[in-house]
Amino acid sequence: MNRQQLVSVAWALAALGSAGPAPALTKRYQAPPDTVMLTPSEMPGYAKAQANCTSCHSAEYMRYQPPNAGRPYWDAMVHRMKTVFNAPIDDADMPAIVDYLSATYGNKNGK
Ligand code: HEC
Repeated sequence: MNRQQLVSVAWALAALGSAGPAPALTKRYQAPPDTVMLTPSEMPGYAKAQANCTSCHSAEYMRYQPPNAGRPYWDAMVHRMKTVFNAPIDDADMPAIVDYLSATYGNKNGK
């Protein structure tokens, strides 16, 4: 479909909408809050995660990972942030961060 056709479809939908009940196009999407903080913890990785994991996105992302995911999942996630998205995470800080994340957001048993 080219641009002109898209515009026509948009107008057709708008016309339909004004005749009948509100079309699906007017549905609202509530974006998640961008102010979610990391869950506090006594673990040393908590401060390191605060320093390394919340500059690009909120802790919202951590909350929606599989709750049964273990340490390897979080280890891969932290490495992914560094290699794929160039997150400036010091390799020496990674184990503590992964410990904190898997204990706080994962299955807690380290597997
Ligand atoms: C340099 C910026 C940056 C930093 C720093 C960063 N992330 Fe991300 N993160 C991203 C981007 C970009 C995405 C992908 C967003 C998307 O897919 O929509 C993402 C996505 C995620 C996701 C969602 C799952 C996924 O695979 O997309 C999780 C969980 C996550 N990050 C955890 C972390 C953790 C833990 C840290 C700290 C170790 C961290 N992030 C640091 C940029 C960053």
